[in-house]
Amino acid sequence: MRAVFHLYGAVRHMLEIAKYFVPQSRSTITTDASNLWGSSTSDSHVRDLSHWIGEGRWVNEQAWNRIGQMHFEMFKKICLLANVTQPICSMVEWGSGGGANAVRFCSEVTTFYGVDISSANLAECQRQLKMRNFCNFRPVLIDIEEPEQCLRVIESPVDFFISTAVYQHFPSKEYGIHITELAHRLLADGGLALIQIRYNDGFPRLRAKRRNYYKNVVTFAAYGIHEFWQAVQCVGFDPLAVILDPSVCYAYFFLKKERPNA
Ligand SMILES: C[S@@+](CC[C@H](N)C(=O)[O-])C[C@H]1O[C@@H](n2cnc3c(N)ncnc32)[C@H](O)[C@@H]1O
Repeated sequence: MRAVFHLYGAVRHMLEIAKYFVPQSRSTITTDASNLWGSSTSDSHVRDLSHWIGEGRWVNEQAWNRIGQMHFEMFKKICLLANVTQPICSMVEWGSGGGANAVRFCSEVTTFYGVDISSANLAECQRQLKMRNFCNFRPVLIDIEEPEQCLRVIESPVDFFISTAVYQHFPSKEYGIHITELAHRLLADGGLALIQIRYNDGFPRLRAKRRNYYKNVVTFAAYGIHEFWQAVQCVGFDPLAVILDPSVCYAYFFLKKERPNA
């Protein structure tokens, strides 16, 4: 009898361990992601995660302003590398959160499209822009399962695409490649893009995850640097440069959509 109990205990233990390796269904992961990002109105931790000014790390207004400033400096470098001097008219930010990028870029563009799966985050981004008298913000709320919905709203082609601190939260690596294809479709020939990913060059902590979105949200999708470089080329981008920040394993890809026959 005791042997049966031991066996039962051992099997239960093995099943518990196995649970951590069995991938969850795509719909479980996307539902969890949607619920998490949709809860910024009720959860201050999610407001911090979504980069809302005045929340958590962003009580420090200067730190919040630095987000947009840093990405704007990168945008200027992309223009230099791509030999582009004309101003940009329209841009898309994928995952605009609390508007840290939007408030810096809005004075440079006529139309700013913010694409997000969270209506609360879009509303906060719009609020920040209104406070700065920018009225051409176009919020694009998408269903996480149907990112192509953006194509119905965004009047493409646009001149610039940016996505920072978002790809690491995607439900899978393949999903991120699909969003990169959409970016390519939205951009004009010669258009520019800045995409930041979390890179994983061998750290087990950073490998892409396949379960428990809530626990793993910060590192859910990570790519090898070379892997992402090749992926953007397959999509049709010309990668101009990549900048690394090893302190957080961030890689910033500077991209250009080539003109046909360029
Ligand atoms: C960390 S915030 C980044 C905000 C802004 N890009 C920045 O750098 O300050 C992540 C944002 O991405 C949004 N997000 C998460 N998954 C998304 C998805 N699949 N498609 C579009 N937006 C998404 C979240 O709702 C949130 O607004």
